[in-house]
Amino acid sequence: MKVTIFGSGYVGLVTGACLADSGNDVLCVDIDQRKIDMLNRGEIPIFEPGLEELVQANVKAGRLGFTSDIDEGVAHGLFQFIAVGTPSDEDGSADLQYVLAVAKSIGERMVDYRIVVDKSTVPVGTADKVRMTVQAELDRRDVTTEFDVVSNPEFLKEGDAIGDFMKPDRIVVGTDNPRTTELLRELYAPFNRSHDRVMPMDIRSAELTKYAANAMLATKISFMNELSNIAERVGADIEMVRHGIGSDSRIGYSFIYPGAGYGGSCFPKDVQALERTARQIDCPATLLQAVEAVNRNQKRTLFRKIEAHFEGDLKGKTIALWGLAFKPNTDDMREAPSRVLMESLWEAGATVRAFDPQAMEETKRIYGERDDLTLCASNEQAVEGADALVVVTEWKPFRSPDFTRLKAAMKTPVIVDGRNIYDPEMLKREGFVYYGIGRGEIMRGLVVK
Ligand SMILES: NC(=O)c1ccc[n+]([C@@H]2O[C@H](COP(=O)([O-])OP(=O)(O)OC[C@H]3O[C@@H](n4cnc5c(N)ncnc54)[C@H](O)[C@@H]3O)[C@@H](O)[C@H]2O)c1
Repeated sequence: MKVTIFGSGYVGLVTGACLADSGNDVLCVDIDQRKIDMLNRGEIPIFEPGLEELVQANVKAGRLGFTSDIDEGVAHGLFQFIAVGTPSDEDGSADLQYVLAVAKSIGERMVDYRIVVDKSTVPVGTADKVRMTVQAELDRRDVTTEFDVVSNPEFLKEGDAIGDFMKPDRIVVGTDNPRTTELLRELYAPFNRSHDRVMPMDIRSAELTKYAANAMLATKISFMNELSNIAERVGADIEMVRHGIGSDSRIGYSFIYPGAGYGGSCFPKDVQALERTARQIDCPATLLQAVEAVNRNQKRTLFRKIEAHFEGDLKGKTIALWGLAFKPNTDDMREAPSRVLMESLWEAGATVRAFDPQAMEETKRIYGERDDLTLCASNEQAVEGADALVVVTEWKPFRSPDFTRLKAAMKTPVIVDGRNIYDPEMLKREGFVYYGIGRGEIMRGLVVK
């Protein structure tokens, strides 16, 4: 089938590559010429495991192409996917300007039947706005071509995006026209073989399902972070508590890890957008407000621990950071806790030595050259001469370092474990001062300065 995808970011590129890999003829359109030039040279602008190989194989097979030519894009696909960004507006609601710009582009150019598929995460009612925008352009041109608008939200996780797309938990198809459900069923058939994952529903429910999923996951994280702060102060270990509650099948183990607060391009903006939607319809979402507030507070927790350890005097201190991306297996630093930490450290007069397996370029792009930031070639190099090490992102290579070498390389052996990946008792034996998240280490005598 012929597919056009507007937006070649995390979602558009993965969708395009996976649909091409199942035999479709896919054209990806982006207004960012730099991105399109890179893609046409066989370079991938983002890091996502397996994506480079998948893109290259499908380009080679002639099933996947990239262009900035919108005319070509609208002429190409029966399916016109919208996978552009929906960032937060100044007031936190979703900014729909990019989605509606694509809708306008389609309306300005289409000459025969098109299915406009909204894959971007958008507030309830956006499909109506997309429909009106396309229709207004058709009316302006005096063209009476049919089209449908479908809500098909994407649930992929960065870091495992291809796996999620190829083996989805569900394929939500929100439409008011059964004909489009069947066409989308056909498009998704290769990813729907073992059992039927297509969930047809009305458009508004589909739009809300995406926000509900992200809000639920963010709520689990904020709940555990709040509990970790309680555990810390009452001398309990949140890791024990996590095991204790995770074993209850009604609760489960997934997404109950305490940490440095959630980041990324989705949870922060989607929780905010849903909360703003609720406010606009006079239905205040008190729980979502709390989820956001807990997260904002949690993003400061690593800094507070460092600040407390050095009794408020961070001037001239060197802090090593392991992990800059908002989670492992991505280079995405949008809303990453590392950014809050680094910016707070700089403000307090400290210097940062940092390493991340994938996000070094992105860090350079965001912060540029600065005297108080050294981007190191390895995690071992980052700790050289450091007054403390903070583990911000739980990349696999950080899990079992050689603690003897680590201690020898550091100026003072202080570890702030932002993801609870180390054993506090073991680190105490190795001679480290250890701070975790919600592990009650001060009350339990594990911190010996
Ligand atoms: N990143 C994720 O993990 C994820 C997962 C599920 C859903 N989503 C949602 O999917 C949407 C896209 O997210 P993303 O992370 O891929 O964004 P992104 O910022 O990585 O990519 C968006 C791309 O759209 C392009 N663009 C903007 N306007 C355009 C236009 N008029 N025509 C063509 N291209 C245009 C931009 O240049 C950019 O390359 C968002 O709504 C997001 O909430 C993201």
